[in-house]
Amino acid sequence: MASENTTSSRRVPFAIIGVGGIAQSQHLPNLLRVPQIDLQVACDMQADRLRQVADKYSIPRRVGDAREVFADPTIEGVIVATRDDFQAPLTIAALNAGKHVYVEKPLATTPEQCEKVVDAQRRSGKHVAVGFNRRFAPAYLQAREVVTGNGGAHNIHYRIADSYCRTWGAGSPPGQRILHEVCHIFDILRWFTGSEVDWIHCLRGRHDDEICLLRFASGCIASITSSGYATVDMPKEALEIISDYGGISVIDFVELRTFGQRAYQSVYSYPGHIHPDHEYIYRHMYAQLGAPALYALRRTAWEIREGLAPAEPADRAVFEKHHRSHMPDSNYTGDKGWVQAMAHFAKSVAAGTKPLNASPADALAAAQLGQAAITSRETNQVVSIHP
Ligand SMILES: NC(=O)c1ccc[n+]([C@@H]2O[C@H](COP(=O)([O-])OP(=O)(O)OC[C@H]3O[C@@H](n4cnc5c(N)ncnc54)[C@H](O)[C@@H]3O)[C@@H](O)[C@H]2O)c1
Repeated sequence: MASENTTSSRRVPFAIIGVGGIAQSQHLPNLLRVPQIDLQVACDMQADRLRQVADKYSIPRRVGDAREVFADPTIEGVIVATRDDFQAPLTIAALNAGKHVYVEKPLATTPEQCEKVVDAQRRSGKHVAVGFNRRFAPAYLQAREVVTGNGGAHNIHYRIADSYCRTWGAGSPPGQRILHEVCHIFDILRWFTGSEVDWIHCLRGRHDDEICLLRFASGCIASITSSGYATVDMPKEALEIISDYGGISVIDFVELRTFGQRAYQSVYSYPGHIHPDHEYIYRHMYAQLGAPALYALRRTAWEIREGLAPAEPADRAVFEKHHRSHMPDSNYTGDKGWVQAMAHFAKSVAAGTKPLNASPADALAAAQLGQAAITSRETNQVVSIHP
């Protein structure tokens, strides 16, 4: 990401379409820190949720149908955070109505739908940012600087593992996890390497338990371990990159370690950011203790989730009274770049400059990789991406 030279004091009227999980956990609280966006309208099909959320964030107008947003000439930008099958059509409709769009990943369920957004953006001349927010995570920006200055990425391992199969992804069809979660990793590896993937081989274990092997045009080789069977005490994301000499590792956006790099510290810790609904202490724990704080919080979250009350009766009573339903959310407090991605997009729109966020073409590349990974997973064949 380049430096933030896109300053403007203009506040741009925006609407948000979809005020569910990611809007409430990230975009709405984060917008309080993005002065360039003047959030005028909230839109959601669920009336109760819409009222509740719009009241909480003092959003003046509420509509149940996105067409009202597109027909409003005062709205210049739209945040779309709905569902993977609605996001491309809503983005195209917004572009056709002359709006800029920040749209969540996955942009669409197929590469063909992504291509339609690429075309619609080209015709409209408006900006589209796709929510591959990891490109703006402070730990990854620093890691990329280290790796790029040391001959680039030659060998990468990325693990993305969580409790998807027992929680929010339970019962989802084969391949869904690749399209929903691994799409982020396809994007970030293209960003780290500055290169396109030549071929992919996806090895399948259990349902939603896979390893993808990738070969980039740059010569870099990479593996992605994706599993929906981990527990919350395991860090969700771990990255290791070997460059010309030594390399880096990052644990859950909280701690970056450098190896063989005399110009850099050996350990960097990242505080994450304050969230209105989460504990303030995370910030200082991550900043001062780095990965050990993350491990401790994740272990606590796991004990609470599993209802593992302490053995001592007095401690058990405290656990039952105060902590049983109060689980630290380690996943959403590490700094995955959500605020910075939105802030950069908003500044670019306000200043009339091209944003550096992931584009529809990047979303198309991730969707092609997702489709190829699913084909490879079913056939156990290597799949060429650009034959
Ligand atoms: N970037 C990230 O890290 C990240 C994290 C979580 C989710 N996401 C993505 O964000 C999107 C939303 O996920 P979520 O977890 O918030 O889902 P959600 O189901 O919790 O919320 C979606 C909301 O959109 C509303 N909605 C759906 N279609 C609509 C339409 N046509 N018009 C108006 N409202 C509509 C629903 O009523 C719901 O309130 C998904 O694409 C998901 O993959 C991204």
